Amino acid sequence: MTTQEILTKYLEFYKKRGHKQVPNVSLVPEGDSTLLFVNSGMFPLVPYLSGESHPLGKRLVNVQRAGRFATDLDEVGDRTHTVAFHMIGNWSLGDYFKDEQLPWAYEFLIEEIKLDPNRLIATVFEGDESAPKDDESIKIIQEIFKKYGIDAKEGVRIFPRPKEDNWWQRGEAVGELGGPDSEVHYFLGEGSPEGKDPIENESEFIEIGNSVFMQYRKTETGWEELPQKNVDFGGGLERLAMVVQGKNDIFETDSFWPIIEKAQEITGKRYGESEEVTIAMRILADHMRACVLLAMDGVRPSNKDQGYMLRRLIRRMVRAARKLGFEKDLSTRLVGVVTETLSWLYPDLPGMESEIKTVFENEEVKFLKTLEKGTKEVDKSLKKLTGNNLDDLVNIAFDLYQSLGYPAEIFIEDVKDKGISVNQNDFTKAFDEKFEQHQAQSRAGSEQKFKGGLADHSDTVVKYHTTTHLLQRALKNILGDHVRQIGSNITSERLRFDFVHDKKLTDEEITRVEKFIAESVEQKYPVNFVMLPREGAMQSGALYLAGETYPEEVKVYYIGESLERALSKEFCGGPHVSNTSELSEVEIYKQETLGDGKQRVYVRFIN
Ligand code: ALA
Repeated sequence: MTTQEILTKYLEFYKKRGHKQVPNVSLVPEGDSTLLFVNSGMFPLVPYLSGESHPLGKRLVNVQRAGRFATDLDEVGDRTHTVAFHMIGNWSLGDYFKDEQLPWAYEFLIEEIKLDPNRLIATVFEGDESAPKDDESIKIIQEIFKKYGIDAKEGVRIFPRPKEDNWWQRGEAVGELGGPDSEVHYFLGEGSPEGKDPIENESEFIEIGNSVFMQYRKTETGWEELPQKNVDFGGGLERLAMVVQGKNDIFETDSFWPIIEKAQEITGKRYGESEEVTIAMRILADHMRACVLLAMDGVRPSNKDQGYMLRRLIRRMVRAARKLGFEKDLSTRLVGVVTETLSWLYPDLPGMESEIKTVFENEEVKFLKTLEKGTKEVDKSLKKLTGNNLDDLVNIAFDLYQSLGYPAEIFIEDVKDKGISVNQNDFTKAFDEKFEQHQAQSRAGSEQKFKGGLADHSDTVVKYHTTTHLLQRALKNILGDHVRQIGSNITSERLRFDFVHDKKLTDEEITRVEKFIAESVEQKYPVNFVMLPREGAMQSGALYLAGETYPEEVKVYYIGESLERALSKEFCGGPHVSNTSELSEVEIYKQETLGDGKQRVYVRFIN
């Protein structure tokens, strides 16, 4: 079964059970200031899990691209970890609960994609001060296994685990939603998995599905019950493909293998010929997919936030390529096969191939220059060096790493080339320690951003949300219809808006945009939404994000008396104010050019 077939079966399975499909949205969060990347399928659903009513109802299903860069980057290289993946998900928004979710999840795995029930092991929440032990799930799972003649005893087939393993929440902030979860682990080893706790025997198992019973909200002191009991199920699509396709290595599945084959063809190396080659090829294949998806979502290499992650990934690929004896161009030459393997899910992607290649090419050229510059600096520093003191070498390496991004493993090769004797293991260890120390110091600041918090639906944020629509309208009217939103980000302090336009706004244009918004506030336009079939909505002239897959029925927010005569109409989930009179006048207080014909403006309320 191909990955595509697995996904199709999953979507159909849940659609038959009354679920409506929600879109696979950009990896770059819309209007969420605390997370850099969408990390799970439930991401866009937070308001609805909290109780807001979803336009498509209480049963939802989707597949969502997700990035777990902060937590999983260093794990890539083994058999199962990838930083970019697709999560299949189904949700009950206060509708069905454990009694339906667990039997369906297992039915899908066993009956639809034919996994051997003997190889499945469950974990559940063992209980603590925030919530009781999940005895209900244990009973339900026992009934499920009974159908297959399996006596699923606790400690044999079902393992209660503490919060760190069987509780899911998206972030740490007060207000985050969470709950106990029940995970399904697939046994990859020999013999019987009975009696093997999958967490204790991690290398023999792979987690393939997680049913979160999202029924709590985080408070200052603990967890409180939500008004509704939700289900948030997520499963890694590529991992499922691995077990369905009978592989022990995710890189041998149809999502990755064509990339590895191409890398073999270009480099003349063989996957599996040595650990070094295998790891380098895994890094390449995984990072390539991540980078292509980020580029598809409009991310460009830069020194901060999402752009910085893209830059790091491209640099790691250059280093992996060097391990394969390749100086330059390898990632660029792999773009084609990656867009090809992803095209069944993203039909627009092959059309973006040459644009993405250019992004990679430019970044590689820049990095190769860094390496060149670095080599000169290395020469200078090493000339000053007396002896081969490890601390001195580590300090030089760390400075070069920080100032130029010059990789330590290349530094150590340079050092050896100069005939300076150094134990590579000692050096690596000392460098890593220094790196760790430094990370720990800076982590305090950036952790929250990576780990995330709850999307803010305060009044100010909602006001900025509606202002975003007015802003896009103003920019289109004033600068021309080529203006197109490519991203936005809202905090309670300001609104940031990225759009296609080839130069910064002039002072006059800024004044006109500000005036347009001030007048719209004064006009007291009502703000409403309608649910429309997707095609009709597109024909209505409502704005939407190119490259995004929308469900069959979409919510269109419009500002004005009617949809036909609206000042602004956009595909949007909301929420919004109900009248523009609730908004305030704004100023554009900062702008930046993002390169490649893209601009960014920062807007804030002035009273
Ligand atoms: N949101 C849950 C997860 O990511 C399903 O595991």
